[in-house]
Amino acid sequence: MPALLAALPADHPLVDGRVAGAPLLAALRGERPAHRPVWFMRQAGRSLPEYREARRGTAMLDSCLTPALAAEITLQPVRRYGVDAAIFFSDIVVPMRVAGVEVDIAPGVGPVFARPVRTMADVEALPHLGAPGDGAPFDAGLEAIRAAVRLTVAELGSTPLIGFAGAPFTLAAYMVEGRPSRDHLGARRLMIESPEVWAGLAEWTSRAAGLFLRAQVTAGAAAVQLFDSWAGSLSEADYTEHCAPGSAAALATVEDLPVPRIHFAAHGSHLLRAMAATGATAMGVDYRMPLDEASRLLDGSLPLQGNIDPARLAAPAEVLERHVLDVLARGSQAPGHVVNLGHGVPPETDPAALQRIVDLVHERG
Ligand code: CP3
Repeated sequence: MPALLAALPADHPLVDGRVAGAPLLAALRGERPAHRPVWFMRQAGRSLPEYREARRGTAMLDSCLTPALAAEITLQPVRRYGVDAAIFFSDIVVPMRVAGVEVDIAPGVGPVFARPVRTMADVEALPHLGAPGDGAPFDAGLEAIRAAVRLTVAELGSTPLIGFAGAPFTLAAYMVEGRPSRDHLGARRLMIESPEVWAGLAEWTSRAAGLFLRAQVTAGAAAVQLFDSWAGSLSEADYTEHCAPGSAAALATVEDLPVPRIHFAAHGSHLLRAMAATGATAMGVDYRMPLDEASRLLDGSLPLQGNIDPARLAAPAEVLERHVLDVLARGSQAPGHVVNLGHGVPPETDPAALQRIVDLVHERG
């Protein structure tokens, strides 16, 4: 058995061969499977009536930490659409909650932290995270995640599960501001005015993200994606100096495991090369940059994922179809192509539009 596989348990889908023929994994290796794989960021969530039903009466973060519910919500879009991957239902702030940081997700707002992190004393007061599998409180708390992943992959069969984490910059931006912000000025100022405080916080968030990813992979995920929702607000120079090291550290936490590492930033096409250099093995592309152009920028070095414009999901069927065919044509210029949106599914999306995309991609891709 190759050394990387030996690091996973015998009943992991990558080890027992269940996902061996998965088009997603082939495309992420740079191959051309029989049909182009497709999944959607935020495919599980408010656009689905069965999700709203399942979630009724349970707070967002409680849902994430209830294994049977998290597994059920993860499976819903796979059953409904026949997509080529499941994305684990969780949230980027779940590792903070598990670590004991006071955080909630306010409906219609997003993550809200009780105590923003702005000084070295704040950083030093963050909970100790420990090491993978050390049984310490953070690792023990991740058992709810591992249990949800195990329940999910037991039902998924040959469809791979993608694990994910928020990138250290996005996580730190929420922690500095204490809540979502439009321009992330608090975080951007901190990295310039107090680089040592910033570095301490970025190290903590990269460790939290890395251990969260590793828990998902060891329990059964077959690929990972690092989401950097806010990195697009940075110049390439600031990203490279202050954020790339944390993202590289988070991805390095699973580098000894045989899983592809997808890296995605919304509004981040100016960072594609810098983000690829953090140890990613595939790049997600936002809807603003055509995939053929993205592939040229990367010198054809990595498989790409993307990048249907979410604004076209509600357009007349023929407008959407023309757009999807254009994405397929441009995506075939990359060394491997996983079809996705160029950002998450908007809550008001008609599930029928996503179904049409899946069918079209499977037929024509
Ligand atoms: O299908 C999937 O993609 C499943 C899992 C998933 C969720 N959040 C579920 C969720 C993933 C991968 C995320 C990542 C996430 N969470 C990101 C990165 C991706 C991106 O869009 O850039 C970010 C920035 C967050 C933080 C966050 N969580 C926000 C801004 C919100 C929306 C708050 C609101 O009510 O408008 C959430 C909540 C959230 N995360 C929901 C879901 C399904 C909605 C919660 C609900 O149904 O009440």
